[in-house]
Amino acid sequence: MTHIHHHEQDPITILMEEHRVIERAIRLLEEVAARLDAGKQVEPTILINLLDFIRNFADRCHHGKEEKILFQTFSEHGIPVEGGPIGVMLFEHEEGRKAVKAMAEAALKIKEGDWRQTHLFSSNAKGYSQLLTQHIYKEDNILYPMGGRLLSKEEKEDLVRRFEKVEREEMGEGVHEKYIRLIEELEDKILWSS
Ligand SMILES: [Fe+2]
Ligand SMILES: [Fe+2]
Repeated sequence: MTHIHHHEQDPITILMEEHRVIERAIRLLEEVAARLDAGKQVEPTILINLLDFIRNFADRCHHGKEEKILFQTFSEHGIPVEGGPIGVMLFEHEEGRKAVKAMAEAALKIKEGDWRQTHLFSSNAKGYSQLLTQHIYKEDNILYPMGGRLLSKEEKEDLVRRFEKVEREEMGEGVHEKYIRLIEELEDKILWSS
């Protein structure tokens, strides 16, 4: 059975649509952090599911496509890595991974009933949210348009094919859609309850 993930054939559009999904997760992370800061309890499975989304959809899949495919192509067109915009993006991906690691450690302790760890979770959640929000802004408004102008039609088609290969071979059939459904479920659970 074949499965078409993307109808549009522009690699930049595909990544920008992923940003819109990641922003929905960031919105939920901020909401959860605010509740923890207010001394309310949040189901540990909600924290763990949000981290699952961030690790797999945002980091492994989206940042993976950027690091291994898009930025590689941009650098071949002369956009600098070291000391340039790509280097800044790579550094911010790494900073994000540190915050995710800290949140995961806190979430595990919270799951074991240690609610003193809520501050560790919420401070890293707020830091991650700020980091990713401005990171996505820079990609959408500066780096993607800058690099996108340098790509030929054939290169764009090739990038789309390589993105689809990542989805199929590294993420697995239907996994992308599974994570979009997870965000919808978490929105129902978090935003429609107090
Ligand atoms: Fe990025
Ligand atoms: Fe991105």
